[in-house]
Amino acid sequence: MRRSYMAGNWKMNYTRSEALSLVKELLENGSFKNKVLVAPPFTLLETVSNAVKGTELILGAQNMSTAESGAHTGEISPLMLKDLGVQAVILGHSERRSIYGETNEIVNTKIHLALKHSLEVIFCVGETLEEREAGAAEKIVRDQVLKGLKDISEKQMESITIAYEPVWAIGTGKTASPEDADDIHSVIRKEIEELYSKETADQLIIQYGGSVKPSNVKELMGKANIDGALVGGAALKAETFIPIMEYNK
Ligand code: PGA
Repeated sequence: MRRSYMAGNWKMNYTRSEALSLVKELLENGSFKNKVLVAPPFTLLETVSNAVKGTELILGAQNMSTAESGAHTGEISPLMLKDLGVQAVILGHSERRSIYGETNEIVNTKIHLALKHSLEVIFCVGETLEEREAGAAEKIVRDQVLKGLKDISEKQMESITIAYEPVWAIGTGKTASPEDADDIHSVIRKEIEELYSKETADQLIIQYGGSVKPSNVKELMGKANIDGALVGGAALKAETFIPIMEYNK
């Protein structure tokens, strides 16, 4: 039985006081039967880290450099994340791919580096609207998985969660139908079985992301291959994130 995993990606939102009040509400009013993560922007990591210390709420970052240190103006290294108590990092988010030009190769380098420093990874994949309309969704996602996981060992897969986020469903209010999402999730699971083993495929947590809300979490999570959610907009308020993070499959 896979343990459900709910992650909140705050994107570029909030100042320290806003972050603190959200985290306090989650801790005071939420329960943690599922695995639950929040990923605040870099500037809030220390504040949130202090607030979640000793609790079950996992601290994640939204991105990370391809390098450990040196001449990389504006970048944040995995060592800096570890120093702040960060436990996991979201890599390959579609906004990183589309706005900041991250390729599958860059994402692969980052995944290797994160794992080297014992950071868990939420590895994002997903097709654009044109790719879906051209009937290429499966092919694109399979390719992202293959290239993103290049030279990742079976043992390392224990620290990786895959998030399927169709780009056209992110922040648009459009959600993939539970059936369409489940189809792609099962394609991903089969690919992991081909690349590694049935056991690793069965254990892999695959989150769905793209306009997840309290009103659609039940039908999405009702699908056999959907094990959790990567949530943007609805993760910014306790009243919308708590019903998602507490959803009992
Ligand atoms: P959304 O974002 O829930 O606002 O669509 C999801 C994501 O980008 O992780």
